[in-house]
Amino acid sequence: MERQKLIINGGNQLMGEIAVQGAKNSSLPLLSATVLIPQGECILHNCPRLTDVDYAMRILSCIGVKCRREGGTVITDASALTNNEIPQSLMREMRSSIVFLGAMLGRMNSCKLSFPGGCELGPRPIDLHLSALREMGAEITEQHGYLMCNAPKGLHGADISLSFPSVGATENIMLAAVRAKGVTQIHNAAREPEICDLAEFLSSCGAKVLGAGTDIITVEGVEKLYPCEHRVISDRIVAATYLSAVACCKGELILTGVQSAYLGQIIPLLQSMGCKIYSFGKDSIYIRVKGRLKAPATIRTMPYPGFPTDAQALLMTATATAQGTTVFVENIFENRYRHVSELSRMGANIKVEGKVAVVEGVSTLYGGELQATDLRGGAALVLAALSAEGKSAVTRLCYIDRGYENIEGAFRTIGADIKRI
Ligand code: EPZ
Repeated sequence: MERQKLIINGGNQLMGEIAVQGAKNSSLPLLSATVLIPQGECILHNCPRLTDVDYAMRILSCIGVKCRREGGTVITDASALTNNEIPQSLMREMRSSIVFLGAMLGRMNSCKLSFPGGCELGPRPIDLHLSALREMGAEITEQHGYLMCNAPKGLHGADISLSFPSVGATENIMLAAVRAKGVTQIHNAAREPEICDLAEFLSSCGAKVLGAGTDIITVEGVEKLYPCEHRVISDRIVAATYLSAVACCKGELILTGVQSAYLGQIIPLLQSMGCKIYSFGKDSIYIRVKGRLKAPATIRTMPYPGFPTDAQALLMTATATAQGTTVFVENIFENRYRHVSELSRMGANIKVEGKVAVVEGVSTLYGGELQATDLRGGAALVLAALSAEGKSAVTRLCYIDRGYENIEGAFRTIGADIKRI
């Protein structure tokens, strides 16, 4: 996997239709939630084929959950859990494995896991997760990089106020609360669509969850949860990736299987740059771009429903060749400009000062040898290479494969000159 690379000849316009894959950031907490079901099979449709999903399935198997994939559907059975420890090797692979903590405590009242790994987007602390679970009765000690978590008397409801609307912390608290004794309230909860998807799944399993999508979520603990069948929502960041690709390369595209409501600020922003975008039917979006785009003055990343941090690198690539100057302010992660040095080597004019990046639009980017630095930064480099003059090679595809099913296949179907070797 490490030696693979994408060879891209840039300059083709994009044209065609793409069905958007299921959401990675919904699939992971949903797979974790299936740990809470004491018998029977949970069925998750529209689960994307990604390495991160593979890792989550391996973690489930490690603790005794039977899980298998049938096409786009993943089936799990958590009747016979055998182990409350997630091995270091798997924890290191994926930061989001921390979301297993809440479900394992909720089901087994104990859990041992190491500090999470994953993309380097600055320090990825888990203090909000741990302090909330402690308020619910968990005893959590940290020894040599391992977390030992126990709730000998079971978890109980608590009134939790998050200093930051952390997506992962909100998910962990929901997962720990659905079978805790009493009521849990989460104040300043994350409002992302993936939170609503998790709440819908949990409710289908018999949980009592109210307020998902708002900043106050109330969970009333129940005795037992039952298996259910659920369809994962579509991936709004993958949808944003393809929209941004047309913004970079020009052309026209139909995206199907996407809820445009989940795209929040992205559509109005692209429209303000000169993209023609219409949503039609139940879940389709049409985009057409021709000629040079106009740079938006400022893009600030914010918790949902603000502009998503995961789309920052994608939009930066589109502004790199737009007319004018864009100021980016990355308010969510400390170190999320790792793609800037690679874009600069392609001729982009970008200055980074702390959490601010100033992008002066240039007329053309030039292809070259590019290294992905993280998942969305890697996708941004693919977009840049597709729109650049000349040939590019993108390496470290392991980052990109964490979040995109067959990225080269999708782009090839809409006219890009791209192959993996
Ligand atoms: C989720 O990460 C997503 N990952 C990220 O997507 C996404 O960028 C992020 O939410 C923000 O939307 C998954 O859902 C698997 P956070 P998460 O907790 O839960 C700080 C991608 O590309 N923080 O909302 O880790 C943290 O350091 C990935 O798919 C604390 O300080 O995000 C960060 O600066 C990248 N203490 C900010 O909050 C904590 O205990 C946002 O983190 C937790 C978080």
